[in-house]
Amino acid sequence: MNRKLRIGVFGGYRGNSMIHVLYRHPDAELVAVCDKYQPILDKIKTESEEKGIQVALFNNFDDFIEYDMDAVILANYANEHAPFAIRCMKKGMHVLSEVLPCETMAQAVELIETVEETGKVYAYAENYCYMRHAFEMWRKYEEGAIGEVTYCEGEYIHDCSRIWPNITYGERDHWRNRMYAAFYCTHSIGPMLTVTGRRPVQVVGFETPIDPASAGLGAAMNAAIEMITLDNGAIARSVHGLLKREPGAVNYMFYGSKGMMESGRFKEETKKFNLYRESDKLCIGDWEKYDPEAQDAAELAQYYGGHGGGDLYATHYFIQKILGRPDGEKYSIDVYKAVDMGICGILAHRSLLNGNIPIKVPNLRNPEERDAWRNDHACCTPEVAGDSLLPRTALDNRRIKDEVYEYVKGLWLAEGKKEADYPYPGNPYEE
Ligand SMILES: NC(=O)c1ccc[n+]([C@@H]2O[C@H](COP(=O)([O-])OP(=O)(O)OC[C@H]3O[C@@H](n4cnc5c(N)ncnc54)[C@H](O)[C@@H]3O)[C@@H](O)[C@H]2O)c1
Repeated sequence: MNRKLRIGVFGGYRGNSMIHVLYRHPDAELVAVCDKYQPILDKIKTESEEKGIQVALFNNFDDFIEYDMDAVILANYANEHAPFAIRCMKKGMHVLSEVLPCETMAQAVELIETVEETGKVYAYAENYCYMRHAFEMWRKYEEGAIGEVTYCEGEYIHDCSRIWPNITYGERDHWRNRMYAAFYCTHSIGPMLTVTGRRPVQVVGFETPIDPASAGLGAAMNAAIEMITLDNGAIARSVHGLLKREPGAVNYMFYGSKGMMESGRFKEETKKFNLYRESDKLCIGDWEKYDPEAQDAAELAQYYGGHGGGDLYATHYFIQKILGRPDGEKYSIDVYKAVDMGICGILAHRSLLNGNIPIKVPNLRNPEERDAWRNDHACCTPEVAGDSLLPRTALDNRRIKDEVYEYVKGLWLAEGKKEADYPYPGNPYEE
């Protein structure tokens, strides 16, 4: 192709990170942005005029999808990616999807089949797989540094209480207020699957007690744990969500047949990447400890430090894959791996609602495994679930008062986007 790829971005809040990659990328250009929130479009208008580039602005998806684009980046609501991805691919566009890939098992099947039918590139923007420590583990595992995985851990601890007004705007039905603990699972599960190349075959889900302050911000929140069996028999433990610590924690650990690697938990005391290799003698080996640097596209990477250096690569490898380049083929996360990551959370939720029972994770690469899930719409979003609506938690599903959302909205609207120092004062639940 002797011109730049024409790419549009749907959702300009998190999408701003991809927009900034497109501003500089040598092989692609930002040509359109769609968001229903006018201040976001106003900001892009000012920015693009300053840069002397033309960006078409849309406040609704139906008009946006008609625009002349090669590809679309979806950074809209986390539970609505699959239906929009399917529409884009059927319209002839490649898709890069923010997390999560799908909200239901039925969507997982339809997403995969749409990629197969249209032949479009689908890539999953799980930027945590490209954080410097996680990406270094991926490369080292590939080199055989620790042998075959036996046990691993992925940890994404993020207490969003303080910023909750600014990311939910006081909307009762915002996806963040409706999501269950196990839903947002791919920051912790994702790197365990990209590093090892393994597939999940079984999941058991757990949830921690609900954080007492969180209902006063509009959502009773907690953390989830998924215990996953991988297809070689190894065990993977994923933990993510609201637990108390600041700053949050993004750590990974892998044990293998010849050694182990783990990320340092406190940057003041440890290196971000630590590797132990056993020698040819039992129980005798060496450590390597260092802070990894960007390797691919290092010149571009210097501009994108967000999320541990991960924010460049999902977009970069998506572009490379569309252009048929080997690094895109190798490192872009495809629909099968994306669905593997995402459905572990969907099925873990069912596990924990049913007393932590083990649930088999289907391999949706196999057409014969799809029919069992094709019409499975169970989730926590009433408009999607119909009569298969699931509770958000096994612990406490009391309805939160309207006044709580008004309180949160007030914080959001306060000049300077005030963060929450305190939750709603008083009982947050309806009697
Ligand atoms: N990978 C990461 O590190 C990371 C970090 C933050 C958010 N995210 C993901 O980014 C996505 C967006 O999250 P967010 O933080 O920007 O908050 P958000 O979900 O509240 O914002 C989504 C944006 O899309 C717009 N939008 C949604 N549906 C629309 C529609 N039908 N028409 C027009 N505009 C629409 C909204 O106005 C909003 O600006 C989510 O999928 C989230 O999981 C990822």
